[in-house]
Amino acid sequence: MRRADVEDVPALQAFWAVAGENASRPGDDAALVENLLRRDADAILVAEVDGEIVGTVIAGWDGWRAHLYRLAVDPDSRGQGIGRLLMRAAEARLRSLGAIRFDAMVLSGNTLGERAWAAMGYELQEDWRRWVRFA
Ligand SMILES: CC(C)(COP(=O)(O)OP(=O)(O)OC[C@H]1O[C@@H](n2cnc3c(N)ncnc32)[C@H](O)[C@@H]1OP(=O)(O)O)[C@@H](O)C(=O)NCCC(=O)NCCS
Repeated sequence: MRRADVEDVPALQAFWAVAGENASRPGDDAALVENLLRRDADAILVAEVDGEIVGTVIAGWDGWRAHLYRLAVDPDSRGQGIGRLLMRAAEARLRSLGAIRFDAMVLSGNTLGERAWAAMGYELQEDWRRWVRFA
């Protein structure tokens, strides 16, 4: 496991296109991923086997709140504990920065994701909905 660098961005884009949660979302903008790494060089954790990315998680920290996203494992490598390892490292990083709570957005109906978050101790908050407006 290691942190991702700017040179990893093309490989990350390709990885998320096949392993990410929402196959129908627009492709990731490389400039935005690079921007994240410039603001927070430790934000993206990757798991690697033989030089290939097999898992990722983003541990976002704004100084107050901690958001976990892009938890994804290569479809052929799931169920082996890679997701849990990534999460453990992400939580340790966020805890060391002062986080007191971790949260994640999970698509309704993503049973695989829901099972993983539940297995890792996360609870669904039924009383919140996400509100968005595009910039
Ligand atoms: C969610 C995901 C990252 C889990 O990765 P993984 O490497 O397979 O997870 P792990 O093997 O570390 O399993 C973690 C826990 O989740 C549970 N889990 C994982 N897959 C499961 C499945 N198919 N059925 C039931 N439980 C499952 C396991 O019980 C495990 O807990 P345990 O260690 O107590 O047994 C992976 O399935 C994935 O990439 N899914 C697509 C992307 C996605 O939906 N991401 C989450 C959205 S934010």
